[in-house]
Amino acid sequence: MSVQVAIIMGSRSDLEAMSETFKVLSQFHIEFEAHALSAHRTPDAVRELAEGLEGRGIKILIAGAGGAAHLAGVCASHTSLPVIGVPMKTSMMGGLDSLLSTVQMPRGIPVATTAVGASGAYNAALLAVSILALGDRDLATAYKEFRRNQTQKVLTSSEIDVAEILTEEK
Ligand code: RP5
Repeated sequence: MSVQVAIIMGSRSDLEAMSETFKVLSQFHIEFEAHALSAHRTPDAVRELAEGLEGRGIKILIAGAGGAAHLAGVCASHTSLPVIGVPMKTSMMGGLDSLLSTVQMPRGIPVATTAVGASGAYNAALLAVSILALGDRDLATAYKEFRRNQTQKVLTSSEIDVAEILTEEK
């Protein structure tokens, strides 16, 4: 199987959160590649990467960045592939700056934006799985199974022992 998903992050400092995407894509046996490149520090390399994705058979780009997080939007301007943006947490505003600068794309160039940080990275990979599953029956089955298991896991531990918690607090 060839590489289906490319992941780009604005800095190696985004790696801890963005590595959530690696875990999910590996779990679903999806081939991916990852790059640390910046829209403002290495603009030409970002453009070259985004422009070349489709020709290499890649189907989806996941782009994580923080602060004035224009990476996903810049990538989306250089490719017609679906781009999923992941806003990184920041010390200044907890990632609200990244969220707004990723999600608020002006009309014409879409970026599908997930939650801030590691959960957003995790969900970005799941979203990529569900998009790829549209054209892959086995992957669709695996994704539905994942969702069923997740539901089951929550249901099996849904009972909360209130008495025990109150005893612990004493
Ligand atoms: C963005 O600036 C990166 O995506 C990162 O989230 C943030 C800080 O980058 P470093 O200064 O840690 O390289 O471009």
